[in-house]
Amino acid sequence: HEHMTLKPVHYSFSGPFGRYDRRQLQRGFQVYQEVCSACHSMKLVAFRDLEEIGFTKPEVKAIAKQWKVEVPSINDKTGEVSSRKALPSDYFPSPFPNETAARAANNNALPPDMSLLAKAREGGPAYIYHLVTGYATQPAGLLAKFPDAKTPDSLYYNPVFANLNIAMPPPLVADGQVTYADGTKATVDQMAQDISAYLMWAAEPKLENRHRAGTAIVIYLLIATALAFGAYRNIWRDMK
Ligand code: HEM
Repeated sequence: HEHMTLKPVHYSFSGPFGRYDRRQLQRGFQVYQEVCSACHSMKLVAFRDLEEIGFTKPEVKAIAKQWKVEVPSINDKTGEVSSRKALPSDYFPSPFPNETAARAANNNALPPDMSLLAKAREGGPAYIYHLVTGYATQPAGLLAKFPDAKTPDSLYYNPVFANLNIAMPPPLVADGQVTYADGTKATVDQMAQDISAYLMWAAEPKLENRHRAGTAIVIYLLIATALAFGAYRNIWRDMK
């Protein structure tokens, strides 16, 4: 199929001086918590990491409390697992106990862990934005030409997904699907931007340090170059 041109997505963290927009990351987290976390785990992120995106300690505690973590008891020969409310030091609990259960709930497809997802696919966060906003009806022309390409009943047509048919049902379907704590209007487009920005932060929390170090190094090299040039002029001043 012909190459798709996708409209570029603007992120506050793009470019050498780019920074995360904390409020956007908090909104993106809200989308993760209320929508994506039903199927996708985020094992490498702990609740306390949310302080980095501007949540206060009490807020983090309150967020953690809304989740349950399973704790196997040491002395229990029955193999029973008890659960307790999550603490800031816990990592995000996974929605399924194991891969078999995850596949059983998803037509045998596996929702990938989201911790590094924004770095795992070509296109990065913009790919995630386009994927979740990219669901469409299968073009009649395509079907006429390739009848066998008809999307099977259990899959969804999405031209942004490499093999065109994806097992994930459209996750963001209606404006107002979440009610943002900061009052921002939760259009599908806004939620897609926010969740993809949040996933970029999850995958690269130190992006700002990298940008700052890069800027400092370029400035340092410019100064060093000017000094070296001055030294060169000074040394060769009397040579005609
Ligand atoms: C796969 C994003 C919610 C089920 C994926 C992929 C992304 C993604 C980026 C990887 C696609 C690839 O491999 O290139 C999201 C976002 C969500 C969300 C941002 C929330 C806004 C959900 C929900 C479910 C789900 C709620 C379950 C009902 C799956 C499954 C796959 C998948 C089964 C694997 C698809 C396949 O391999 O065909 N998702 N997802 N996702 N997601 Fe989601």
